[in-house]
Amino acid sequence: MHGLRQTFDVTGTYRTRSGAHPVPDGILLDLAAPEDIEAALAGRVYDVIVHAAAMAHPDQCEKAPEHATRVNVDGTDALARWATSQDSFFIYISTDLVFDGRRGNYAEDDPVSPVSHYGKTKVLAEEVVQRHCARWVVLRPSLLYAQGTGRSHSFVDWLHGNLGTGKSVGLFRDQFRTFLYAPDTAMAIVRILRRGVVNEVLHLAGPERLSRYTFGERFAEVFRYPRRLLRAISLSDLNDYAPRGNDCSLRAERLADLGFVPTPVAQGLAAMKAAGEGTV
Ligand SMILES: NC(=O)c1ccc[n+]([C@@H]2O[C@H](COP(=O)([O-])OP(=O)(O)OC[C@H]3O[C@@H](n4cnc5c(N)ncnc54)[C@H](OP(=O)(O)O)[C@@H]3O)[C@@H](O)[C@H]2O)c1
Repeated sequence: MHGLRQTFDVTGTYRTRSGAHPVPDGILLDLAAPEDIEAALAGRVYDVIVHAAAMAHPDQCEKAPEHATRVNVDGTDALARWATSQDSFFIYISTDLVFDGRRGNYAEDDPVSPVSHYGKTKVLAEEVVQRHCARWVVLRPSLLYAQGTGRSHSFVDWLHGNLGTGKSVGLFRDQFRTFLYAPDTAMAIVRILRRGVVNEVLHLAGPERLSRYTFGERFAEVFRYPRRLLRAISLSDLNDYAPRGNDCSLRAERLADLGFVPTPVAQGLAAMKAAGEGTV
């Protein structure tokens, strides 16, 4: 959002983090109550709505599937309808986990094949957006990393939390993603808006396909955590978690055609380090 605020007049929504929300006039909006969305947004007009809010943790979605459907699908449905009634351009933030991960290197026109409930809700939400919105973009980012807010349970927050207190972490050696430096998302959205892209599905991927373990090695090196704390594990070692594909790496050709160049992982990690991440 910070990246977008440099270029546009931006406001945001929150559900629980009102105190620490980076947008002063953020709007309280609960997607689990889709019937209240219209009232929450009454009187407001937006040229563009970027819908990134979601129940975004696959394991939580697997444990509470009805709630996940309500938030991710019904909530998106209500928001997309409202956006259309306002003639807003709707950008929906989906995920690489719409694919089953059997093959990897997925292009925008490859058929979706989600294996987790989370992935299924994101596919249904993509469909809802395309059905209701006159002007839309579905943007599918890969696994994101960035300097954390200290309020999230992102992958890198989890790495810092464990490695910073001397705890070892198990990282999949057989799960591959095209790790994306999160601020690139804002840059890609700016590019989409400036180039007038509408009614398309776009992939947003980092430039390298890495296993979680290899990413962890690079992360540990940059932040000077002992490498012995990293344990290589396999997806097949875990049974209690949402199903995950082995290789959900994305090919982001459309954005490349638009001249978008994603940040290399070494550069993204260096930027995190320069921002003071890992020193808390
Ligand atoms: N993280 C990744 O690697 C990744 C990769 C691909 C795609 N994505 C997508 O990117 C988006 C953001 O993911 P994230 O990892 O940043 O997730 P996150 O840290 O869990 O944040 C989720 C956001 O959604 C909001 N939210 C959750 N439940 C809500 C509800 N019932 N009503 C309204 N807002 C609600 C939260 O608001 P509060 O904090 O105020 O509760 C929070 O701002 C999601 O759409 C996700 O599917 C993420």
